[in-house]
Amino acid sequence: MNQAIEIKENIYWIGVNDRRTHIFENYWPLPKGVAYNSYLIVDEKVVVVDTIERSKMDDYVDTIATLLAGRQVDYIIVNHMEPDHTGALKNLIHRYPNATIIGNAKTFPILKNFYDISHHLQEVKEGTTLPLGRHSLTFHMAPMLHWPETMVTFETTEGILFSGDIFGAFGTLDGGIFDDEVDLDYLEEEISRYYSNIVGKFGQPAQIALKKLAPLPVRMICATHGPIRRAHIADIIAKYDTWSKYETDKGVVIAFSSMYGNTERMADTIARALAEKGIKKIRVHDTSKTHPSYIINDIFRFRGLILGSCAYNAGIFPTMETLLSELEQIGVKNHLLAYFGEKSWSGGAIRRFDTFAANIKWEIVHPHHETWGTPKNDDRQACRDIARAMADKLDNLYP
Ligand code: FEO
Repeated sequence: MNQAIEIKENIYWIGVNDRRTHIFENYWPLPKGVAYNSYLIVDEKVVVVDTIERSKMDDYVDTIATLLAGRQVDYIIVNHMEPDHTGALKNLIHRYPNATIIGNAKTFPILKNFYDISHHLQEVKEGTTLPLGRHSLTFHMAPMLHWPETMVTFETTEGILFSGDIFGAFGTLDGGIFDDEVDLDYLEEEISRYYSNIVGKFGQPAQIALKKLAPLPVRMICATHGPIRRAHIADIIAKYDTWSKYETDKGVVIAFSSMYGNTERMADTIARALAEKGIKKIRVHDTSKTHPSYIINDIFRFRGLILGSCAYNAGIFPTMETLLSELEQIGVKNHLLAYFGEKSWSGGAIRRFDTFAANIKWEIVHPHHETWGTPKNDDRQACRDIARAMADKLDNLYP
């Protein structure tokens, strides 16, 4: 059995840690694991708020049964349909067949198609209230954060916002579950990496949701991943505001793909020239070594991006292609761009960078440069020119 933790009188965290999954949703690395948070409210009515991923559902259902000591679950709230929060749903309704599933109009078609569940459903709309006894819940739609059906649930007595994935984080909850019990510095990258990669595409919906939720008297935020916020609520809301406006710091990410070291030599020349111009926040990533989620996380932090790639089979190197297509898909905004390449026997990298630049529509600070084989003196000078143009732009923007 997992350990349930009372977070307010008769309201429990019943989540689980996942330290076994290496790759979240078969794509994102989990070096610090992940927590699937679920919550139980025991009142005149009994409510489960979001469930967990299926791998630990037997323990999870046992935890609920022990807490309830024979009582039944009346409602299961589905703030978000993604299977890391609905994996235990079928098991739960098998145990509690009279439970009513609460969702919105966009929840139920997904529920039907994923799990063939179409009975005991109750639809809520913006502002719908559900009295439980001493506690009462209201529902607020937050579409595209980060699926169309996403919504949040606000518990009005204690001021608890059950926010689904919003304000979530990678990383397990290692003992502490509240933000004032855990080492937030240790989790910092996993908090921003979660935002930039999972929610990052949806900056405008995030802005809409932040404005909509602002009037709520929130005293605790219970997301479906990461620590519960009670001491640093304003901090995480401010971070979301910054990130969803694509606001960045003065700094440059250099991401390169290099088979034989020539493109890397150019990247190092650019990095050195940036440093000589006084740019301190420089992050150099080899796309063959670093997962795109970390590179994208740094791109969300810093205004400048300089990309470099060797040619590969008359195109761009595959790991750079992955990064570019992800950035195009996310639609990251408000950056400065430059790029360079090494043409090998065919060329092709620059052609793909040109397409990327046209798609992403960022300001290009300097014309690209392409070398052939080992960078010569004039190639290195061209790299320094790119770096200086980027540094000058940043100096103007961040005086
Ligand atoms: Fe944590 Fe979008 O699921």
